[in-house]
Amino acid sequence: MRTYTSNTPLQAALHNLRRGGQSIAFVPTMGSLHEGHLNLVRKARQLCDAVVVSIFVNPLQFGPHEDLDAYPRSMAADKQKLFREGVQILYAPTVEEIYPEGMTAQTQVHVPDLGDTLCGTSRPGHFDGVTTVVSKLFNIVQPDVAVFGEKDFQQLSIVRKMVRDLCMPVKIVGVATTRDEDGLAMSSRNGYLSLQQRHIAPVLHDTLNSCREAIACGFDNFLQLESHARMKLLQAGFQPDYFAIRDARTLRSVTEDTEEIAILAAARLGSTRLIDNVRLALNPVSDWGMLADG
Ligand code: PAF
Repeated sequence: MRTYTSNTPLQAALHNLRRGGQSIAFVPTMGSLHEGHLNLVRKARQLCDAVVVSIFVNPLQFGPHEDLDAYPRSMAADKQKLFREGVQILYAPTVEEIYPEGMTAQTQVHVPDLGDTLCGTSRPGHFDGVTTVVSKLFNIVQPDVAVFGEKDFQQLSIVRKMVRDLCMPVKIVGVATTRDEDGLAMSSRNGYLSLQQRHIAPVLHDTLNSCREAIACGFDNFLQLESHARMKLLQAGFQPDYFAIRDARTLRSVTEDTEEIAILAAARLGSTRLIDNVRLALNPVSDWGMLADG
């Protein structure tokens, strides 16, 4: 595995791979790699000849009072994991390499609508930071395929829309969330949890699952389901940020045209913000009949 910290030698290496006829899959990450990231890498390996992973803790997607400085960094361990997974190229740029003129002078990419709800409301500017850095990374790496986790379902939807809207020549592939045995979605931020909080954390996924089951059973009072779920999270010790039942395609309210429901939640346990989601496909005829009839 070769590691590059600057663009010019990276692009020369990628040029050689392409000239040799190799297709390139890209997995952008912020490091502190866990099994969830490694599953993205495994998917990438299935899809293309060569895999490029980036590790870059992107300051542009952190708000002024968020955990940029505390965000876990473990470059040496990450490199070993990627090497063992057969990754050919690691790109680990500095902040200066990505934002040579500073962040305020940086042209930004904004995805309207999808980016203005849920985490977009509670973390203003976050998704602009994500889409800006992902666009830059796509332009640097020029992958055939890029792989993202479904745990960040809103991020995945936004990246898909950005790629469509800006005609970026890359195929976006989503990979199912990797969970611990008790259902907690793997996240680099889980390491912030105390033992007691770690014990409580799976309640987030349990609550999402209960809500999905209720909808699958025909319960169609979504406001009531959302408020019941928020109450359950509060009682468990979370500070819920949002718990929302949405159309999985638009991330807006569910309508008659909804083909798949996404139930998305963000909640704090102490100072750790956890997010998760589950989805439910609706059978166009029978499910809507069932939901509409109550
Ligand atoms: O999901 C992440 O780790 C980040 O948001 C990403 C896509 C690497 C952009 O910094």
